[in-house]
Formats: sequence, structure tokens, C-alpha cells
Amino acid sequence: MPPGQILDGKATAKAVRTDVAEGARRLQAQGTQPGLAVVLVGDDPASHVYVRNKDRAATDAGFAVQTRRLPAETSQADLLAVVRELGDDDAVHGILVQLPLPKHLDADEVVQAIPAHKDVDGLTLANVGLLAAGRPGLRPCTPAGCVELLDRYQLPIEGQHVVIVGRSMLVGKPLAQLMLARNATVTICHSRTQDLAAHCQRADIVVAAVGIPKLIQGDWLRPGAIVLDVGINRGEDGKLVGDVDFDSARERAAWITPVPGGIGPMTIAMLLANTLRSAAESSGVPLDSLGLAAR
Ligand code: GUN
Repeated sequence: MPPGQILDGKATAKAVRTDVAEGARRLQAQGTQPGLAVVLVGDDPASHVYVRNKDRAATDAGFAVQTRRLPAETSQADLLAVVRELGDDDAVHGILVQLPLPKHLDADEVVQAIPAHKDVDGLTLANVGLLAAGRPGLRPCTPAGCVELLDRYQLPIEGQHVVIVGRSMLVGKPLAQLMLARNATVTICHSRTQDLAAHCQRADIVVAAVGIPKLIQGDWLRPGAIVLDVGINRGEDGKLVGDVDFDSARERAAWITPVPGGIGPMTIAMLLANTLRSAAESSGVPLDSLGLAAR
């Protein structure tokens, strides 16, 4: 079998961002500039890189962006006050609190302080519930990016067996719901699943989102499987590695995402799409007039 083909998240994300920028131009012509606020607390180097990338991508798409960088010792009350101020600001349509927060802070209380209609990460209980109920709402960006990437390559989801390794609120659980909504058969595995290899061998689509470098091996895959690697781990040599052993997995897979350049860029693109969606809804502009699917 020839080696698997690359699912190019970087190029696909660029295409999504071009579409979002066009939607933002049309919305702006009707008097609304999409506004995104990103809140970053502390000094985590990786978080600073992610936030800079989000800020740049949103600015490039024509959004008004405000990034609030707060010191590591910020109190819970001060952070809540910032989130509530952004919640009350009509020029802000999307609020993202970069995770993880420093340990002394209660991340859940902070996230739940975001008004649901500005929750572009899809993490508030309202949006989690809407997704579980199969109703319109804001969807978490990384799982939405996984689905968008498959769609743009016209790879089928319906009827496929999707094995998700990881059960986080940010990726694994919402991805399972999104895949179910697309009529996939879904298995959710995690770090304590017994005989993970046997589960992966039954998958048409494997999604690795567990945060363990190179966990998924090539011989765990059915020949012809599709592999989406959500993992972003820093290897001993300082390079980024995914949760999949890329070289051996590529021998078996039909399609595979690289790290970096796979799901990561798609996450940012979907953040922009979510923010445009919120801005359109808050100003009463029909989604389809901006090139967005109804929800
Ligand atoms: N940290 C890593 N990924 C994400 C994400 O998608 N959203 C937020 N808020 N924080 C993150």
C-alpha cells in the first residue's frame, strides 16, 4: 500500500479563514464588525503562542480583537470581573478564556461566567447541553475543526466507525456528539481503556486526543483508516509531536493529519467561524447571507 495521504489542515484552515473574512466583510458592510476578546492569565509559553496566533488570525479576518493579558497572580474576583465586563460589551461577540488557567483559579466558574451566546469555545453548560440535545448552539472549535476538515476533503462520516481516544470537555466528548449527529458509530476510549489497540483496529476513523506522545502505533490501525491527530506534545528534542506515531501510522492509513499543520490550524479557523456566527446572530443578519451554514 502506498503511504497515506496528508490531510493538510494548514491549507484547509486558510480556505476556511478566507471564507470567514469574506463573511466578515459582508457583515461589516451592514454595520457590524465581528469582535473577539481573548483572555490570557499567566506566563505559560505555549498559551502565549496559541493566543498570539488567535489574535493574528482574527485581525487578518477583519475582526476587532482585544487580548487581555493578566498576571499569573490575578485573583478569581478580578478575572470574573474582566469576563463580566466583556460579557456586557456590545462590541464583543466572542469571548475565549485561554486554558489551562493557573492552579489557584477556578476555571469552571470563569468559563460559566461567559454569556452562552458569546461562548465561542462552546464550553458553557448551555452550549454543552444544546450539543447533547442535538440543538443549535456554539460548538467547541477543535472537534468542529475535525468535522470541517473531513468535510472539505469530502471524506464520509455517515455510517463510519469513529474511535475517539480521549474524553475531555474540549475535544473527546463534544466530538463524539458531533459525530453522532452526523450518523457515525462512535466509540470513546481513554487512557484507562483496556486493549486500546483492539478498539483502534476496528475504526474507520481514529481521532487521537489524549495528550500522550506517539501513543497510537501504526499496527493498531486498519489498513485504509483515516487518522486525525489532535495531540500537541513537546518532545524531548523540543519539537512538537502528536498522540500518533506518524511514520508507522502513515504506512497503514489512507489519510492522516500531521502535527503541526493538521488539526491545530483548523481549531483557530473554527474559532473565527464561531465568532462570525455570534456577531451575525447578535445583529440579526441571516447566517446564509455570510456563507455560514444554518445551525
Ligand atoms: N487551550 C488549548 N486549547 C484550547 C481551546 O480550544 N480553547 C481554550 N480556551 N483554551 C485552550
